[in-house]
Amino acid sequence: MKFKILLIAFLLSTLTSSSSSSSSSSSSSQSSSEESNIISRFQQYLQIKTDQPTPNYTQSTIFLTNQAKSLSLQSQTIEFVSGKPLILIKWEGTNPELSSIMLYSHTDVVPAEHDKWVHHPFEAHLDSDGRIYARGSQDMKCVGLQYLEAVRRLKGWGFQPKRNVYVLFAPDEEIGGHDGAEKFSLSEVFRGLNVGIVLDEGLASPDEHYRAFYAERSPWWLVIKAVGAPGHGSKLYDNSAMENLLKSIEIIRRYRASQFDLIKAGLKADGDVVSINMAFLKAGTPSPTTGYVMNLQPSEAEAGFDIRVPPTADTESLERRIAEEWAPSWRNMSFRLGQFQQKVSVYDASGKPVITKTDSSNPWWALLENAVQEAGGKLGKPEIFPASTDARYFRNLGLPAIGFSPMANTPILLHDHNEYLHKDEYLKGIKIYESIIKAYASFDEHGSDGRSKDEL
Ligand SMILES: *[C@@H]1O[C@H](CO)[C@@H](O)[C@H](O)[C@H]1NC(C)=O
Ligand SMILES: *[C@@H]1O[C@H](CO)[C@@H](O)[C@H](O)[C@H]1NC(C)=O
Ligand SMILES: [Zn+2]
Repeated sequence: MKFKILLIAFLLSTLTSSSSSSSSSSSSSQSSSEESNIISRFQQYLQIKTDQPTPNYTQSTIFLTNQAKSLSLQSQTIEFVSGKPLILIKWEGTNPELSSIMLYSHTDVVPAEHDKWVHHPFEAHLDSDGRIYARGSQDMKCVGLQYLEAVRRLKGWGFQPKRNVYVLFAPDEEIGGHDGAEKFSLSEVFRGLNVGIVLDEGLASPDEHYRAFYAERSPWWLVIKAVGAPGHGSKLYDNSAMENLLKSIEIIRRYRASQFDLIKAGLKADGDVVSINMAFLKAGTPSPTTGYVMNLQPSEAEAGFDIRVPPTADTESLERRIAEEWAPSWRNMSFRLGQFQQKVSVYDASGKPVITKTDSSNPWWALLENAVQEAGGKLGKPEIFPASTDARYFRNLGLPAIGFSPMANTPILLHDHNEYLHKDEYLKGIKIYESIIKAYASFDEHGSDGRSKDEL
């Protein structure tokens, strides 16, 4: 294990007296100055330029470490790869024997094209309607700070968790998470935390229902290649490389349409179908003068596809389909399983589909549902996340992980221009997390508080 703990800072109660006096009065109302402090902390985090490919993790680490300090919580900075810190903040439970709760977020964001935005993506401008514009406002600096704000308020009321609560900020999710969440999930440090449930990111919801995700689709990046006899551009003949490839593309397009139709008909959600989109087409004989030679049918042609496979799919039949219909050797198409540029398995280490249960076998799901409801939120049907998140590293270990970003009545703008979150949605989300963290941190399956798993 290559990790190295850079600094373990135990930052203990120095500042509690000032913060506890104001918050004890009421659990439902918030003073407007408290509110503006919350928004201003969110803006400060958004203003830190943690955009790939050169995120300033130095600055985000200072900011997050200071947040932990202001909460009188221990924090440690862990680096598996130099310059790629994870910040682990611990709120100690009264019964640390119980499995712990991990509140996960990533600190990095995707790049932004400044000139396509109405407000600068790292200014965190709050407009007169209450929208906060910034890269990361939805994905997912909101969630990271909402966890901390929820902890701040719970602490303010004197709430004591039974379980250890960990708030984790990880780097590099947007470039695959290999030097962040992946290495962390396989580390001794992580094993030592005895995590029982992970919360990770979800997606905004344009309607009033929050969305929660219990699994995600696996990327399969497929390149198929056709060969065929070359010939004069004027000649009609069978089995040219182009014709062979186009036959495959037609078949793939029909399959794509059949999957898309299920979504259009409202029968399936985005994450429930196999999606397939062409990422590149490569063929033709280059010419230094005209771009391509026009009177020649080339002997090779290639196409690349981004395929996303839900863990509920019959992957064996999909693989057979690829080998027999999309890239059949009898049509001079080459394809071997090894030719996937990337093929993430839909099965975990023990061979089970990578799915977090949303039935009575998983008490964390029912707790989340109840907690959202108790805080006045509505939760939609659990879904499969259409793309990849770091939750897969934890699910691969057999741990339950739920993707959830409390943003209702909000257009989905992650990775888009003009990403924003309304401040009222942000504040509402904090209340939702208060409710969830309280429920999770109080949960004791052995029923010492009178509530057993069966009663949930
Ligand atoms: C990153 O942030 C640190 C701390 O605020 C600052 O000193 C440094 O100049 C920043 N680096 C870059 C490349 O902007
Ligand atoms: C396969 O390619 C070879 C030449 O590379 C060609 O002679 C043959 O006709 C092709 N067959 C098919 C079915 O495309
Ligand atoms: Zn994200």
